Amino acid sequence: MAQYGYFDDAHREFVITRPDTPLPWLNMLGQDEFYGLCTQTAGGYSFWKDARLRRLTRYRYNNNPMDNDGRFLYVKQGKSVWSPGWKPVRTKLDAYECRHGLGYTRIKGRKDGVEVEQLMFVPPQENLEIWKIYVRNKTKKTQKLTLFSFVEFCFFEALNDMTNYQRTYSIGEVEIEGSGIYHKTEYRERRNHYTLFGCTRKVDGYDTSRDAFVGVHHGLHDPKAVFAGKCTNSHAYGWNPVGAHQINLTLKPGAEETFAFVLAYVEQGDLPKFDAPFVMNKTKGREILKKYSDLAAVDAAFASVKQRWEDLLSIYQSPDVPNEHLRRMVNTWNQVQCMATFNLSRASSGYETGIGRGMGYRDSNQDILGFVHLLPERARQRILDIASTQLSDGTCFHQYQPLTKKGNADIGGGFNDDPLWLILSTAAYIRETGDTSILDEPCGYADKPGSKDTLLHHIETSVSYTLNNRGPHGLPLIGHADWNDCLNLNCFSKEPNESFQVTGDIAGSKAESVMIAGLFLYAARDLAALYRFMGKADDAARIDGHYADMLKTVEEQAWDGAWYTRAFDAAGNPVGSKSCKEGKIFIESQAWCVLGGAGQTNGRARKALQAVAKYLYTPEHGCALQYPPYSEYHLELGEVSSYPPGYKENAGVFSHNNTWIHIGWTMFGEGDKALEYYLSICPSAKKDHDKYRSEPYVYAQMTASQFSPTPGEGKNSWLTGTSAWSFVTASQSILGVQPEFTGVKVDPCIPKKWKGYTVQRKFRGVTYTIEVKNPKGKSKGVKSLLVDGAKVAGNIVPPPTDGRKTVQVEVILGA
Ligand code: BGC
Repeated sequence: MAQYGYFDDAHREFVITRPDTPLPWLNMLGQDEFYGLCTQTAGGYSFWKDARLRRLTRYRYNNNPMDNDGRFLYVKQGKSVWSPGWKPVRTKLDAYECRHGLGYTRIKGRKDGVEVEQLMFVPPQENLEIWKIYVRNKTKKTQKLTLFSFVEFCFFEALNDMTNYQRTYSIGEVEIEGSGIYHKTEYRERRNHYTLFGCTRKVDGYDTSRDAFVGVHHGLHDPKAVFAGKCTNSHAYGWNPVGAHQINLTLKPGAEETFAFVLAYVEQGDLPKFDAPFVMNKTKGREILKKYSDLAAVDAAFASVKQRWEDLLSIYQSPDVPNEHLRRMVNTWNQVQCMATFNLSRASSGYETGIGRGMGYRDSNQDILGFVHLLPERARQRILDIASTQLSDGTCFHQYQPLTKKGNADIGGGFNDDPLWLILSTAAYIRETGDTSILDEPCGYADKPGSKDTLLHHIETSVSYTLNNRGPHGLPLIGHADWNDCLNLNCFSKEPNESFQVTGDIAGSKAESVMIAGLFLYAARDLAALYRFMGKADDAARIDGHYADMLKTVEEQAWDGAWYTRAFDAAGNPVGSKSCKEGKIFIESQAWCVLGGAGQTNGRARKALQAVAKYLYTPEHGCALQYPPYSEYHLELGEVSSYPPGYKENAGVFSHNNTWIHIGWTMFGEGDKALEYYLSICPSAKKDHDKYRSEPYVYAQMTASQFSPTPGEGKNSWLTGTSAWSFVTASQSILGVQPEFTGVKVDPCIPKKWKGYTVQRKFRGVTYTIEVKNPKGKSKGVKSLLVDGAKVAGNIVPPPTDGRKTVQVEVILGA
């Protein structure tokens, strides 16, 4: 990893030491309503709430060079032109460094004795981002230079913006006032919002027309105005509005100039829209620029970004975990990624364009598992929002739009695992908070707006939907797909213009999913435990009964001899069975049957994990999704067989499902294996970044597997369910601190040679310091539990009844 950078753990930063990383290495700014994607060369874009409906700056995905739009600065110094982040000019720099921190990115570039630093962040609770700029003369001579800023505005609705040029070339409008550039396209008609790009100091020129600043036959690497040394003070009218400022600087030896740029999304609210025809009311924009013209306000805003993360991370810290990769992931980066997946689901990253997928029903439910400890109130609201996109028959919109919270009709529903994930997220929320009142919250079904059915009603609907939609083997019907979006057993598509996900008449189909059966077991156990906690013994017993029935069905119908069959196709033939020519064993049915409690008494669970180890696992890359990969397209299986072998769902290493196997090993007390497997997909533990290519600090959805020609190449980083599940694996299954309905349960499963570690956990207003000691070199089993010096039976630490706010727990392993 030293090839491209290193972790600065003390500052919770990843430091990138050269700009030409194997792929853009991204950071995420913002965690309330304003978000920015920012790479190591300041590439990326910004949006408010919804990357499709309120995109503020443009970004061309799949560009070449990659990642070529962003928050750019240009320096013109004598004849030379350079960018402190290297791009877009790509002039060789004398020094370069990028520090991706928590909610901020700091890029520093130096050339010919002049250093420019650009610190980018989004202040908490504000709809704007700030770039604080430092320009330093490191020489003994006075330096004269001109600095230019640049962003390209997006017309808010990103899909229209990038497709409908016959209209968009004729609608662009801006206003300029001092250093404030106001992008106000469509403001005269239905929009009541605008984008402001301003500078906190006086500027020496500006441009708002892309043609004037960049030039029609030029690119961002050689903008005409920059090479000419001055802006043209252009006023965009139609075409492509941009924001560019010109700042002339004369710096004495050793001198430093600081100022800031602000990019804000402004909602006009009830203010009058116009001061005069064509002159918008800029009161709010002016206030923003005034506030941040005092750089003390900029510094205070940055301090609050840092403080906020310190506060959030203080909820779970384990500073002395013996393994450095697990330590930095669980304490810092994994939690940061959980914040991003919670906020953005699978909507916008380097791979998700922000116009397609919105929030995923199953995705966002799972994201809550790794997020709920950070901000349980927000998780609560999210659970209710998600539930409201379920239909009264139990099916769920597979995705929904973050701004409108409405289900996406194009993809529709019928992914039959979707309903069950709601039970997992709700149970996780109640375990964290003890707040069962969420179950009584009314959240209407999507087809019955205004209905007052409660969350508990949704949960029971999910259970009965699964039970009432079963196939010939008594297993749950799969519908369009289950967790594996590409296992489309009802699709039968011969037509390349069709979507695998929505094609296929699922009404009369009999295709069944063993993975959903396993997930049902897990969800039923969660729900029964919840009912028991609520004192509803009858309901708990009813759910226990369903559990027992489903378990029997799984054991009778889905055991294939050495592992669990994956599914039965529409013709009733097994998928993921020794009788198949390809795709004999899949990871998901092993994982979910084991997690759901199948195979516990008959030895099958362990065998299933051993089969995963034998056929799917390599220590370098983790577990492939299935084996052997499909070499041809199977009409009866759909998209899973469409990918080249070793990629994505066709036997790629899908990090997300690996985590379930890691948890499986901990259930069997295999602490050494659990850590080994954990490290096999851990980004921080990747050694060769020319091979792995993706960011070392966040999980990638997929790594090319041993069955591909490029094994070990990571792809689709940031927005993946791996994030939440890895945090659950590390914090709960390995380090063993588990929120339970009745208190904090401590049940570690660690490598035998670990001597011990400490976990600081804030839980329901109390800070627990949990010291785990392992004098006998064991992996699992709590021998004794001391709570503030007093022995407690079992391994659950109950909440203090006497109002104490700190609790000291000592756990000795070795039972
Ligand atoms: C989707 C998930 C899905 C997974 C496996 C991801 O891209 O967001 O919903 O479970 O792929 O197919």
